[in-house]
Amino acid sequence: IDFKIITNDGTHESMKMLIDLKNIFARQLPKMPKEYIVRLVFDRNHESMCIIKDNTKVIGGICYRKYPTQRFAEIAFLAITATLQVKGYGTRLMNKFKEHIQKQDVEYLLTYADNYAIGYFRKQGFYQEIKMQPDRWKGFIKDYDGGTLMECYVHPTIDYGN
Ligand code: ACO
Repeated sequence: IDFKIITNDGTHESMKMLIDLKNIFARQLPKMPKEYIVRLVFDRNHESMCIIKDNTKVIGGICYRKYPTQRFAEIAFLAITATLQVKGYGTRLMNKFKEHIQKQDVEYLLTYADNYAIGYFRKQGFYQEIKMQPDRWKGFIKDYDGGTLMECYVHPTIDYGN
């Protein structure tokens, strides 16, 4: 298993991985409009961390956007392919993601969690209580009434590696 940060850098390899990831998101997040998923996954302000099996097979990932001046990142989409869910990959992905984002000087993660995913995010250290001051994040991320806003504090020195 490898974890790779992929951006829309125009290379064939990145394109292929982002298409695979987009397909996983579209299948696992059926309430999200497909065009919206495509737009964000290929948007140059967004990055994705992919979990890759056998060197080439994308089995899941996180698509996110960093707001460096505000020192937070928003998780837009997160999914593991259906046949490999509940085997611990989602937890490993989140730990790797925290390890990565910590090095980018990000202090908080925000996400609009689906009802079903609230339990998963809680286990990953996300809370419905938002500790960041509103002026730090309001207006930066879009309101989305199909989910519950959750926040996770990323400690600057904890070792999230696994
Ligand atoms: N039913 C019950 N519990 C579950 C389920 C499930 N379907 N999925 C995960 N869990 C629990 C696990 O039991 C585990 O708990 P434990 O640590 O007490 O054993 C914990 O959540 C983490 O389990 P993992 O195996 O690490 O999670 P997984 O690899 O399945 O990844 C994820 C979790 C990403 C939510 C995955 O199930 C998935 O892709 N679901 C469909 C898409 C989705 O809901 N994505 C999030 C939407 S919100 C957003 O994208 C911003």
